Amino acid sequence: MKINLSNAVPFENRHNAPTEAEIAEMLEKIGASSLEELIDQTVPKSIQLEKPLDLPSAQLETDFLVEFKKLASKNKVLKSFIGLGYYDTFVPGVILRNVLENPGWYTAYTPYQAEIAQGRLEALINFQTVVMELTGMELANASLLDEGTAAAEAMGMLFSSKARDKKTASKFFVDEKVFPQTKAVLETRAEPIGVEIVYGSIDQLDVTDPSLFGVLFQYPDSDGLVRDYSAIVAAAKENNVKTAFAADLLALTILTPPGEMGADVVVGTAQRLGVPMGYGGPHAGYFATKEEFKRQIPGRIIGVSLDRAGNKAYRMALQTREQHIKRERATSNICTAQVLLAVMSSFYSVYHGPQGLKNIALRTHGLAKLTAKGLAELGFELGNKEFFDTIKVTLSSHDQAHFSSIAVGAGMNFRYAENEVFIAFDETKSLEDAQAVVDVFAKASGKDTVNLAPHAEELTLELPESLTRTSEYLTHPVFNSFHTEHEMLRYIKRLEAKDLSLVHSMISLGSCTMKLNATAEMIPVTWPEFGQMHPFAPMAQTAGYQELFANLERWLSEITGFAGTSLQPNSGAQGEFAGLMVIRAYHQNNGDHHRNIVLIPTSAHGTNPASAVMAGMKVVLVKCDEKGNIDIEDLKAKAEAHSENLSSLMVTYPSTHGVFEEAIKEICATIHQHGGQVYMDGANMNAQVGLTSPGNIGADVCHLNLHKTFCIPHGGGGPGMGPICVASHLVPFLPGNPLVKTGGKNPVSSISAAPYGSASILPISYAYIAMMGGEGLKNATKMAILNANYIKERLSGYYPILYTGTQGRAAHEMIVDCRGFKEVGVEVEDIAKRLMDYGFHAPTVSFPVAGTLMIEPTESETKAELDRFCDALISIRAEIQEIEDGKVDKELNVLKNAPHTASMVLEGEWTMPYSREKAVFPIDYVKENKFWPSVRRIDSAYGDRNLVCSCIPVEDYASEEA
Ligand SMILES: Cc1ncc(COP(=O)(O)O)c(C=O)c1O
Repeated sequence: MKINLSNAVPFENRHNAPTEAEIAEMLEKIGASSLEELIDQTVPKSIQLEKPLDLPSAQLETDFLVEFKKLASKNKVLKSFIGLGYYDTFVPGVILRNVLENPGWYTAYTPYQAEIAQGRLEALINFQTVVMELTGMELANASLLDEGTAAAEAMGMLFSSKARDKKTASKFFVDEKVFPQTKAVLETRAEPIGVEIVYGSIDQLDVTDPSLFGVLFQYPDSDGLVRDYSAIVAAAKENNVKTAFAADLLALTILTPPGEMGADVVVGTAQRLGVPMGYGGPHAGYFATKEEFKRQIPGRIIGVSLDRAGNKAYRMALQTREQHIKRERATSNICTAQVLLAVMSSFYSVYHGPQGLKNIALRTHGLAKLTAKGLAELGFELGNKEFFDTIKVTLSSHDQAHFSSIAVGAGMNFRYAENEVFIAFDETKSLEDAQAVVDVFAKASGKDTVNLAPHAEELTLELPESLTRTSEYLTHPVFNSFHTEHEMLRYIKRLEAKDLSLVHSMISLGSCTMKLNATAEMIPVTWPEFGQMHPFAPMAQTAGYQELFANLERWLSEITGFAGTSLQPNSGAQGEFAGLMVIRAYHQNNGDHHRNIVLIPTSAHGTNPASAVMAGMKVVLVKCDEKGNIDIEDLKAKAEAHSENLSSLMVTYPSTHGVFEEAIKEICATIHQHGGQVYMDGANMNAQVGLTSPGNIGADVCHLNLHKTFCIPHGGGGPGMGPICVASHLVPFLPGNPLVKTGGKNPVSSISAAPYGSASILPISYAYIAMMGGEGLKNATKMAILNANYIKERLSGYYPILYTGTQGRAAHEMIVDCRGFKEVGVEVEDIAKRLMDYGFHAPTVSFPVAGTLMIEPTESETKAELDRFCDALISIRAEIQEIEDGKVDKELNVLKNAPHTASMVLEGEWTMPYSREKAVFPIDYVKENKFWPSVRRIDSAYGDRNLVCSCIPVEDYASEEA
């Protein structure tokens, strides 16, 4: 037998699932003679690319990892004492391997189907409990994107819920000692909504100013100072001025929490609770507030409710606040948040428990104190009397370069400001590190060092009484039971087992693009060269990251047909906001300050109108015709009517109905004729890559959901990345950062706190593109379209399929109409829940059309998996038929009772008019691979009426066991 030395399997063969034989079978089934013919019938000829993508050729997985390690090693990991909201942390091995590196956790979607998401919902309830108890607040959400945006959300919430006598107040006081990156995000978000930011020192704050509606403090502040704000908060309250704090969760284990000082909102990041710095992200931002703001809170909230059997069950609460329901009147545009990272921080808190966290805080504080003592003995002047982890040392700017070079030579980064240097400690630092800091100062100043060891024995916590926390926290058993690794491992696994993720079966969520998150793409994420970098580390140490950004920006620009890319936005919705702000800056630069109308089709995702409002725009809706396409006449009429003030159009392509609209070029031209810009929502880019592009179609800006098209896993509801790509005339306005030079020549202020958003997950998309190459990416798009059309063909005899292109083809997703079954009492929700009994996650329910399911299979599912999924839906159709035929009861049937749990079929007498086998093994393959939902159908309304957003009280455990 001949041996072929170049027979290694290309990555594309692992990613694009259908084999040659399967492609042929599927083409035959759908009646297309070739893939090319199918694509020609699907994608309008007028927008197809004429040239292949100009991308490097595909690399093998093994070769890629070797090469990429070389790139990564160009990052120099020094010990970071920079602080400013980012601190090194030990990710406990049991969490690193079993959560961050575990597809059982990272491949799940946002927990819309709560019955098969109880694991991460419990972890998120734990997260909310940690945040509420450490901050001393009554309510917390299940994460925001970072501290900067969380602070902006606080400002926005307080502005929109002002007291009557503050109706015209528009000033928001921001303490000058708030972190600079947070200030930059606040500035971006304030101006479009009519908020005026006033900076100053707290001592200048005049809370009696009638135009003041709110204030923001940093606790501890950017100088490291800890102070008691109780008096000022009380004075603010008397004057109807609301107070927000950006607070450090770890510090709150020993400091008086803002809630006890009377704060209205507390925000921040949970990064240092066990999540790597990752050159800026991803980490969970947090948001905590008082009960009175429960209907105004931004983002997702997890709450406790009951299932049909009366058991406690978790699900997302108060969803009527959110963009997918409230649209332009939503409390925020948050869709993807930071679930995986919130889960990590919650497990970190469970693992360490209250005493463990406090010990970490005390050790961190102790090292700072000890170092301060050493430096004082060396004769340096120290800035703050009360501090937690950061010491401020006076140092002339003249001496800084000298000190910095000695520090860097000793492997350490400090933070420098005018005549000051700051040194921030964290849990990874030791007595040796503190000694090394003192040695640097001694060497740089030509003095003998001070030996810290003897002083270490004398360390005590000596904060003033008013600043010392006395209240208990994390007393719930969940934070006091799993401190050994065996117990922790089993707790993590117990929760994981309750959640259905891509490790079980395909998740065909339309518009969400649940692609393969290949292991080779994920491996570099936890390399220390990426994970342990501080976002404000000196540029010279970040060459690996800079090369990664430059290449990725170039590749994404090529793929979208645009001139420039910003990697800053941390989600698709943030990308929308960023893109609209760039458009706004462009108009303003042309003197067109009045252009503030955004046209948005009625079929758009809820984030579109919500983002438009954040960018200070007015939303004008454009109708869709009976085929789901934009109603061109209505669009033209609205563009004409608002010509003078037209800012832009937001359009999703292919449409949210899963169709490549033929008129898209005409649509773009119409907007341009009226001086507007076209914003393309790139959520559906998985149907475009390599075949067409937003730039080629005529758009001016688009965002990409890297957590859809470019393989970043959804993490159970985040992280995500939503870079924007723009045409050349918009490049000058790409967003900047106050500390790291990024963006265009005339940048809009920051969208995210970190210069490159969640930099440490960018290697995933980088790896995907590098291993697929241009041709592989194009093939992926073709397979995604083939797979969708195959499902459409298989289901069309059983379910009406809504909306197809002119030649009867779907794009990469399609909508199954379930509204007709209402006649026999079957709702689309019943079908979604029944799919759980078959081991599948439901497709997208009721978006963009109520009463429908939107199915998107992606290119990475094999024909066998597609067939299993279709078999399940066809079998469910037969179950509906039984109701239609009057053979089974309209209320007591497998659909209405779905999902069926093990305890339902095993405990007590079986009283249902159908068999247990039909309930839980409705089709043969399920017997071999049964996924058991852990709770029965959840009553969401009950939970909203009886809002509980923290760990279930211990008494409830007791009564359950009794
Ligand atoms: C069409 C569309 N636009 C925007 C978004 C928002 O993206 P993200 O969740 O990343 O904020 C989504 C999310 O699913 C979407 O489907």
